[in-house]
Amino acid sequence: MRKAVLVTGGAGYIGSHTCLALIREGWRPVVMDTFANSSPEAISRLRSLTGSDIPVCQVDIRDTEACRQVMSQYHCQSVIHFAGLKAVGESQAHALEYYDVNVNGTHSLLKAMTCEGVRHIIFSSSATVYGEPTKLPISEDHPLDPTNPYGRTKLTAEKLIEDVASSSADICFGILRYFNPVGADQSGKIGEDPKGQPNNLMPFIAQVAVGRREYLTVYGDDYSTKDGTGVRDYIHVSDLAIAHLRALEKLVGFDENFVVNLGTGRGYSVLEVLDAFSSVSGRSIPHRFNERRVGDVATVYADPTLARNLLGWKAELGLKEMCRDHWLWQEANPLGYDGEH
Ligand code: NAD
Ligand code: UFG
Repeated sequence: MRKAVLVTGGAGYIGSHTCLALIREGWRPVVMDTFANSSPEAISRLRSLTGSDIPVCQVDIRDTEACRQVMSQYHCQSVIHFAGLKAVGESQAHALEYYDVNVNGTHSLLKAMTCEGVRHIIFSSSATVYGEPTKLPISEDHPLDPTNPYGRTKLTAEKLIEDVASSSADICFGILRYFNPVGADQSGKIGEDPKGQPNNLMPFIAQVAVGRREYLTVYGDDYSTKDGTGVRDYIHVSDLAIAHLRALEKLVGFDENFVVNLGTGRGYSVLEVLDAFSSVSGRSIPHRFNERRVGDVATVYADPTLARNLLGWKAELGLKEMCRDHWLWQEANPLGYDGEH
């Protein structure tokens, strides 16, 4: 019997790619999602890609009783917890909602796990918990000082998980701090489908390339970087998905808690990403320079050594593959899953 894993937020961008990787390696994902920021169509696509009948429960993670019921009904033995709100700007305007979903939601899930005897949780955290870099590359012992409410909800959820694990509750955790996930599965069937105007660089570029938006605004050309634009550590979402499998195996196999960065260790500037995308898509991508975006920093990239040593994982795909696969998805699905944005 395949082992059942509860995947909260499994219909979302990273969650759907991780479900695909789980099924390919013989696990049985059980998706729990409200579809607040995703579409049931993502699950239909996953079903047709894998020929697997993925159970889906439209349940809010803040509903502890419903979480318990799902865990019990499907005999879930572990949890990968993606569900949450993730827009930095929105987190400033809607801090209460962000703390409710990201912190109370995680609390509710931990409570349900404890009641149902589900012991292992992998948590989606973010490089945003580090805040402004004081040294590069960023290793896991870098000071934690998030600069926005979203980042603080992620850090609070991390601490909550750690405190619960070191209490009498029988819980083990793997906390994964993602750098900048981009790209899509090579099938072109699933991908990132932001609601409204994208906040992040790659989906914005893709929408300009496909003709949905007129031009990209490049935020700042006066950073002290190679070409004056911001530098980030972009990581292919399929590499990221595989990292979740290695993390799950490690956690279930060894009952050892860990916190690891997931990045490539290499930074690219906005203009380098723009050039790479333009070259793989064959489309010109008009852009205009503007002021720096409030809260942005010049350069962020990971030290990925711990992930390699602890999980035996490293990112395999480079910027060209990230752009190629993001474009494959965007070109085949110019209006996203539901075609009505
Ligand atoms: P996403 O929005 O595509 O996926 C999140 C999913 O959670 C969505 O399907 C949404 O409908 C669901 N959801 C939201 N609130 C819920 C609730 N109360 N109950 C149940 N489901 C709910 O986001 P993503 O990019 O796939 O990110 C997944 C996780 O990774 C998030 O926790 C995010 O904070 C974290 N993360 C993302 C990035 C990134 O750049 N994409 C970077 C670092 C960390
Ligand atoms: N950028 C532009 N124009 C845009 C969007 C972005 O020039 O329209 C620039 C930004 O200024 C930055 C770079 O592209 O220099 C990357 O920006 P993103 O918004 O794609 O990514 P961030 O690094 O700002 O933040 C992302 C997520 C956060 C997460 C962080 C670290 O949005 O939630 O990565 O994982 F915390």
